[in-house]
Amino acid sequence: MADAEQSLAYANADFASSNQLFVDHLLVDNPQALKDVIDLGCGPCDVMLRLAEACPDIRITAVDGSAAMIELAAQAVRAANHEARIVVMQGYIPGLALREHDFDAILSKDLLHHLPDPMVLWREARRLGRQGAAVHVMDLIRPATQEDARNIVETVAPDEHPILKEDFYNSLCAAFTIEEVETQIRQAGLPLRVTRVGDRHMLIKGALR
Ligand SMILES: C[S@@+](CC[C@H](N)C(=O)[O-])C[C@H]1O[C@@H](n2cnc3c(N)ncnc32)[C@H](O)[C@@H]1O
Repeated sequence: MADAEQSLAYANADFASSNQLFVDHLLVDNPQALKDVIDLGCGPCDVMLRLAEACPDIRITAVDGSAAMIELAAQAVRAANHEARIVVMQGYIPGLALREHDFDAILSKDLLHHLPDPMVLWREARRLGRQGAAVHVMDLIRPATQEDARNIVETVAPDEHPILKEDFYNSLCAAFTIEEVETQIRQAGLPLRVTRVGDRHMLIKGALR
């Protein structure tokens, strides 16, 4: 999502229900442990703003590869007066200029299916997380057919901007199945579990050894 128009269409879209679902699951699973967290592929930062509202002591590093998206994220963080607790930075994974094993939670929502090589996310989680760090990744589940994908777009986002609808459709088609992600996790040697949550997402979670 390097394009400014695409980024704006995404930022203006209503993903409140899945964004809140991500935060609700995270807080139920980690009621006290969240201090220094990183969000990979933060987009316009709506998810991390919800988390910051719920956790007064949290420090969040929010990373996205797109300069246009990071500008929108920075505006949203300023508007919410959360600059002291949410640091936004532009950077692509792999290759983020961040210290190894510096975070006690690795978070990511709807990034996995954007990566040409999904294994980079799992390697980055291991590289950035401390021992015992929580990993909490949510991503779309690929529908069985392209027609199913179109139906989901028309059900969930019937009135959204055409750019957003096309991106959403492409994302659904590019997403993985639960079985494919379980294979990725096994190959990465990570102790994570994959479950279906909500009507179109999977949640991949656990703690680093
Ligand atoms: C679908 S958006 C999800 C944004 C946000 N996590 C959310 O759920 O609202 C995916 C984001 O990942 C970013 N992205 C894609 N590939 C990336 C990479 N290799 N490194 C960092 N960010 C990336 C895109 O710029 C985009 O903002």
